[in-house]
Amino acid sequence: MTLSLPRTIISLNEMLSVSRDWKKAGETIAFIPTMGALHEGHLALMQYAESLASKVVVSIFVNPSQFGPNEDFSKYPRTLRDDLEKIKHLKIDAVFTPNASEMYPPDFQTWVDNSMMSLDFCGPFRPQHFRGVATIVLKLFHLVDCDHAIFGKKDYQQVKIIEQMVRDLNMPIKIHPMETIREEDGLALSSRNRYLDESSRHVSLALPVALNVAFDMFQSGVRSRSEIENAFAEEIARYPEIQLEYGKVANQSDLRRDGDEITEASVFLAAVRVGGVRLIDNLELGQ
Ligand code: PAF
Repeated sequence: MTLSLPRTIISLNEMLSVSRDWKKAGETIAFIPTMGALHEGHLALMQYAESLASKVVVSIFVNPSQFGPNEDFSKYPRTLRDDLEKIKHLKIDAVFTPNASEMYPPDFQTWVDNSMMSLDFCGPFRPQHFRGVATIVLKLFHLVDCDHAIFGKKDYQQVKIIEQMVRDLNMPIKIHPMETIREEDGLALSSRNRYLDESSRHVSLALPVALNVAFDMFQSGVRSRSEIENAFAEEIARYPEIQLEYGKVANQSDLRRDGDEITEASVFLAAVRVGGVRLIDNLELGQ
């Protein structure tokens, strides 16, 4: 049996009227926002979505406003046809692929700006990134009219900012953060992994290895933030090909970093550059 490709919706008005009709008919909607270049991590989110609602919508939109001027917006992989092929065996009711010109008309001027959580971790390295993410996610939530939205925990800071936005703006949407899916050797799946050449791919393993060093220290009872962060940095420093952007322990609940003693469930968040490719990853320390 040949499976047909999922239905795609480009126009904002069509998306609005499809979701409105579904809602009138009593359907519930689970939503997975993506920028395409889909991998097993995305597919796992989509599979989970089926259990949450009667309709599943995926968006594929490379959002220009979350890329800085010297970032990879123009070379970000755009693989729509392959993406649709990859998900045609799943129960996806619509794939929303809006155009940037309709999402951001020339007079666009309203932004969602997180004023605390976005300042640390990736924030200083990607100014305006989370403003772009929060704004597009809010627009997508509105257009898709979802009841549930599913995000991968690999983008931990992103998930926290979106949870905060949903609370702050009283949006009736349940956010479902899902565990990071990894390659067999431990590298977290990411659309950007395809930029890694053979030697960078090999060296990139230092990131999950160093995260596990932090994890093991926590497991063995170390509660000093600086001790764990230093051990992580030392592990990364063994590889001259890797530039460390940051490696920091924060509270899982609100990403705060108060004092040296880790007193509650923590998470280690990190970003590195390998061969010109920026990789982020994290590991929860404790529950
Ligand atoms: O995580 C991503 O792929 C993007 O940041 C998102 C949430 C789709 C917004 O553009």
